[in-house]
Amino acid sequence: MSEILRVKGLGGKKTLSGVIEVNGAKNAVLQALSFSVLFKDEFKIKNVPGIEDVKRMMTLLSEIGAEATVEKNKTYSIKFGKNIKTDIPEEISKKLRASIVLTGPILARFGEVSFPHPGGCVIGARPIDLFVDGFQKLGAEVLFKDGKYFMKVKDGKLHGATIFMKNQSVTGTQTLMAAAVLAKGKTVIKNAALEPETKHLADFLNKCGAKIKGAGTSTIEIIGTGLLSAKGKTYITPPDRIETGSFLILGALAADDLEIKNCDPSWIEALTENLITAGVKMQIGKNSIKIKGNGKINNSDFNSLNIKTHEYPGFPTDIQAPMVVFLTQTTGESFIFETIFEGRLNYAEELKRMGADIKVWDPHRATVKGPTPLRGRDVESPDIRAGLAFLLAAILADGESVIHNAYFIDRGYENIEERLRNIGVDIKRECLDVCSA
Ligand code: EPU
Repeated sequence: MSEILRVKGLGGKKTLSGVIEVNGAKNAVLQALSFSVLFKDEFKIKNVPGIEDVKRMMTLLSEIGAEATVEKNKTYSIKFGKNIKTDIPEEISKKLRASIVLTGPILARFGEVSFPHPGGCVIGARPIDLFVDGFQKLGAEVLFKDGKYFMKVKDGKLHGATIFMKNQSVTGTQTLMAAAVLAKGKTVIKNAALEPETKHLADFLNKCGAKIKGAGTSTIEIIGTGLLSAKGKTYITPPDRIETGSFLILGALAADDLEIKNCDPSWIEALTENLITAGVKMQIGKNSIKIKGNGKINNSDFNSLNIKTHEYPGFPTDIQAPMVVFLTQTTGESFIFETIFEGRLNYAEELKRMGADIKVWDPHRATVKGPTPLRGRDVESPDIRAGLAFLLAAILADGESVIHNAYFIDRGYENIEERLRNIGVDIKRECLDVCSA
């Protein structure tokens, strides 16, 4: 099955208008689903986005023996019994990097776990040494054999430890934090990642009996408490800050009036501050961002910027590709320094074929000269965020574009074509060969 998105570009006109709502965050809900292993009772999650990665995680949970059900649109429930497979199946794990988050809670609850090196988007090396190191400090014995990790805890229970993360890793921090909830004694994670989803998740775990202090800061302390109990409490997935940012960039470039609703602007200040510096006018509310009368401002009136991706609260690597599309339309030379992943400028060649003037100096650095009009082209999505960037470029471009591998966009953005059509984008999904219903 191969699905494409066909987009008729606006040819640089800023005609989009209306309201677009932000869904629940992919990079909170995948973790919340994995944390269900920590619970002795049923655990419910609301505001779950209907994205491919969530479907994969639900399949994974079912395959290892959890009762993972979609109760109704956007509300999911998961329950773990005793008959759980601690071997994480290879097929899904290879397709879903977030499967690594599940290893911590499984190891902590069942005393063993085995899994292949996880896959996911091809955006860089994506090692797991920080996870392995952390698990060892918590008392796991690790064997790597035939491409697979086998981990075991001698007396069945992890013990608290002090772990210094050599790199700030988002899922590394979250996984070790979750494992420590079921460990004996106190764990301290130093140089922890600061992403707001970590605090959001920790706050919920605390409501269900965990003792986690300092989540969202660089030092997190966890006192092991044993299995958690939801007692009917529901985790409400927070708004996706990457989706919020992507829609905001689209609004700045292609909308006259656009309201981005159900978001938390305080989570994307690195983006809003940069866009404001470039000359984008916006009204930032508590849960919404409005762009008004933007059609009167030419994109060439926007100024170039220097962007350096950085761990939170710095500029998110996940918004880097959409931001480069913005920079193709600003006046002057912009500089991009991608500090997190070495494969996240791979989309530049395709954007150049659409008319962008980008020079990639090395895997981490590029310059973008603007403004350059973009032309519709056939392009292939290499990963979730680059796929979305191509979609933005296609909307701005003159003529028709076809985005192949729409599947990558579906991994992170629910029903994107319908939501974009509602604000005026001419977009449809087609199957190139036999598509399932
Ligand atoms: N790193 C190591 N060793 C490790 C783990 C990470 O050296 O054991 C390095 C990575 O190579 C990278 C840096 O640490 O250079 C940061 O990577 P991190 O571990 O923070 O990334 P991640 O946890 O695998 C999450 C998101 C990514 C997002 C990054 C950075 C989830 C499920 N994934 O990945 O999301 O790009 O944080 O913010 O939360 C996406 O949504 O498109 C996506 C890729």
